[in-house]
Amino acid sequence: MLSKDSDTTHTQILSRRAFLHTTGQAAALATLGTCPVLATVHKGRAVPNGKKIRVGIIGCGSVSWKYIPNLKARSYIDLVSCCDIIRPRAEQRAKDYQIPHVYGHIDEMLKGVDFDLLVNTTSMTEHYKINKIGLQAGKHVWSEKSLANSVRDGQELIDLAKKQTVGFWAAPCMVTSPQFEFMARTLAAGKLGRLAGARAFYGHNGHKWLWAPEFFKDGGGSLYDLGVYNITTLTGLLGPARRVTGLAGILHPEVTVTTHEGEKVKVEVNTDENAQLLIDHGHGVFSQIMTGFSLFDRAKPHDAMEKDKTTIEIFGDSGVMDLVGYDWGPVGVDLATEEDPQMKRWCTDTQGFEWQQGAAYVAKRLLTGERSLVTAEHALHCLEIMIACRESSKTGRHIDIRTTFDWPVIKA
Ligand SMILES: NC(=O)c1ccc[n+]([C@@H]2O[C@H](COP(=O)([O-])OP(=O)(O)OC[C@H]3O[C@@H](n4cnc5c(N)ncnc54)[C@H](O)[C@@H]3O)[C@@H](O)[C@H]2O)c1
Repeated sequence: MLSKDSDTTHTQILSRRAFLHTTGQAAALATLGTCPVLATVHKGRAVPNGKKIRVGIIGCGSVSWKYIPNLKARSYIDLVSCCDIIRPRAEQRAKDYQIPHVYGHIDEMLKGVDFDLLVNTTSMTEHYKINKIGLQAGKHVWSEKSLANSVRDGQELIDLAKKQTVGFWAAPCMVTSPQFEFMARTLAAGKLGRLAGARAFYGHNGHKWLWAPEFFKDGGGSLYDLGVYNITTLTGLLGPARRVTGLAGILHPEVTVTTHEGEKVKVEVNTDENAQLLIDHGHGVFSQIMTGFSLFDRAKPHDAMEKDKTTIEIFGDSGVMDLVGYDWGPVGVDLATEEDPQMKRWCTDTQGFEWQQGAAYVAKRLLTGERSLVTAEHALHCLEIMIACRESSKTGRHIDIRTTFDWPVIKA
């Protein structure tokens, strides 16, 4: 164990990852978490002919318009069924995308045509319940975020997946982007010198235009819907959180949402729509995140292609690295160092990365047995951070974080 003084001396010259290797933490962390894909494939379950993964999607709202074309574009996936509690939505999706089987309830779906991977794109408040039913039925499950609404429930799902020897993963999946890998490798190479911290922003003024009441209810909120992206990226790059300090508030106690059907619904907001978060990653490395549904964004909210929009900045004592675009819609990475102080843009090829590719990504791994960079343990860690932010805001305390995940995400 390094003393305080030797800690200072060593960390002046070591990159964050090298530092963790020195202290033996990286090895310890690498043994934590699981790789459900490998466990599943080695047991040889539920992969028909080893050729195609049969997928059923539940939740045919806004995000399904992105997921379904992404799944349909993959030669190794058969999208066999879709389901929504508002059945006409599922029927419409089936018609638009030639999906052969349509259901109006999860029970009906599970009794119907067989499939391997359940893709859960239901409302945020429903995830735990649907994930649990899917896992209990022996399905692999990909869940939109969050995987559950409490750490206990999320852990229960992870344990259930292990017991059932099926895979379980949750969005977001930015750790699979080339820009994430580039940033992780740049940090690991020590190019920024001694790592100090980062700041990130993702927000919009969705209180004026979001379409579902669930975004403003328990289980929803700006942290769970938006902040989660930055939290996943920053813990993925800087390491698991040790403790969290946060502020979370409500600026608009009542909002009106216009549903997909054009119905106007008044919603009493009972979760955060304006939040700021400080994460202590250990060894003096800190990050900060600003998120909210009440933040006017100078770009169109989802215009990730804006070439000059930097949403994440990472600072070391000898360099700075900026993510251009959003972490879910990256455009490139800008880098300036002591040796090369003129900011230069790198990694502008997204290699087809799309934020909605997570379900297809894990389906591929079910076939190949390759390690998944996305893990439920990482998703659970981010959930604990978000809950801790709210708790810190209420109590005025730092909140210690107990969960962790297999880190570094990108291995040497
Ligand atoms: N819309 C986006 O751009 C976007 C982007 C990234 C992630 N997400 C995430 O995707 C999830 C869904 O978001 P959305 O925008 O599509 O919401 P949405 O309200 O448009 O769609 C959710 C759908 O799930 C259905 N549903 C709810 N409970 C159900 C149940 N028990 N069984 C079957 N169907 C049920 C609803 O009827 C609705 O059609 C959320 O977790 C959200 O954070 C959305």
